Amino acid sequence: MIIANWKANGNLSSNLAWHKEFVEIFIDNNFSDIGIAPSNIHFTQLQELFKNLNLKIGLQDIDFNGGARTGSISPSMASDAGCDFTLIGHSERRDLFKEDNTVIKAKIHAAINHQINPILCIGESEECSKAGKTRDFLKNQLITALSEIDVKDQVVIAYEPIWAIGSGNTPTPKDINSIHEFIKDVVQSSSANNTEPKVLYGGSVNNKNAEEFFNEKSIDGALVGGASLSANQFADIVKIYRKVKIK
Ligand code: 13P
Repeated sequence: MIIANWKANGNLSSNLAWHKEFVEIFIDNNFSDIGIAPSNIHFTQLQELFKNLNLKIGLQDIDFNGGARTGSISPSMASDAGCDFTLIGHSERRDLFKEDNTVIKAKIHAAINHQINPILCIGESEECSKAGKTRDFLKNQLITALSEIDVKDQVVIAYEPIWAIGSGNTPTPKDINSIHEFIKDVVQSSSANNTEPKVLYGGSVNNKNAEEFFNEKSIDGALVGGASLSANQFADIVKIYRKVKIK
């Protein structure tokens, strides 16, 4: 699966142009392996543009509850609006909006209870990576966010090292693969039904480096930020993914 995270980018006319350019590139128009998480305010626009094309439209975050929570999107609103998936725990949410693992766990619960597929984002800082503590850190993020959650196929993990986001720096494909194996192992051994999750990689993925990543067995797809803002470049990444993974 390839997911575009548009963050706080886009506007009504640029989204329209993006859609036009994107659909013109593909002949078959089966987009079931692609997701877009636009801003909340553009969710319905994207849903309308891509209707009947099977492309998943998700949110970048949801709240764990509704009611007196100014500025929030409640889980029931999201599911009522037809939200297919939601990112949860993106490092920008953790850092800028001070979300901790307890809040993130509540959001995962809320998403699952409302039939919205959660994509749990985890990743270590540069400091943590340099100190050789990445695995311990990720394990803690996984265990605290997923405890008491019946991990089934719908939980996807996105590994996004914070230092790789928007920086042009990435771990080597082999290093990412090895971390993904570790993530699968941690989730599988703590899940009641032995489910192995899909693990996406995010952090400076573009149309030049995507192939090296997708060649690795345990890299199941990508969560793409900056490069997804260009329809053309995002389409390239989708094509590379299909060539390598779907054959
Ligand atoms: P970039 O692809 O811009 O590094 O962003 C990654 C990301 O944060 C996706 O969620």
